[in-house]
Amino acid sequence: MKYKIIDNFLKPEDLEYLQAKLPTLKPKPDIPTSFYSKKSWGPDQNTIDSGKLLQLEEHYVPHAMEILRELAPHKINLVDDVAFNLQSTPPHYAYPIHLDSNQKVLSGVVYLQPTESTGTFLHKNSRDINGEEVPWKVNRAFFFSRNPVDSWHSYKGDEVGVRWVLVFNLLTSKLRKHEIKDKGFLKYTLSRIRKESTQGVETSMS
Ligand SMILES: [Fe+2]
Repeated sequence: MKYKIIDNFLKPEDLEYLQAKLPTLKPKPDIPTSFYSKKSWGPDQNTIDSGKLLQLEEHYVPHAMEILRELAPHKINLVDDVAFNLQSTPPHYAYPIHLDSNQKVLSGVVYLQPTESTGTFLHKNSRDINGEEVPWKVNRAFFFSRNPVDSWHSYKGDEVGVRWVLVFNLLTSKLRKHEIKDKGFLKYTLSRIRKESTQGVETSMS
């Protein structure tokens, strides 16, 4: 998988703002909890105040678009939304190896708190149990663009404290187009035909 790691990603004032926000949030004790802010939502539904959200968009969306241009230039035109999500992971929770949904064009994570914790893990495939860690360091960012073949990843708590990250995604509502860009048109068409013929068999048997 092509990916990018950037240290000192957030400006100091933005890092401070986000870290100060964390004690005001009430995460669930036993499963990861997401506190979303989205460009397309009204201000009332966002965790991050609307003025700050605008600032974050101004500060980081152009940079994220540059990263996407480097990692997956054919996907640039898909982006039509942005999400900033403050996410907790409880100390004893492990999120399984997965691929991101095709709503995410660029997936990003910025490690926020505490000073020491567990990073994100990259896996060669769904059976590569151990994977390779992108080690934890506060304000380190890690970006990749999902694809259906080699973008397997996971994350977990460090068994000591709650792990807080900022998930920063460039999103698309054009899911079919994204799938075509990921697979190539021919493979996409073949997979659709296969899916339809399987569904046909299932329907005729029910
Ligand atoms: Fe993910």
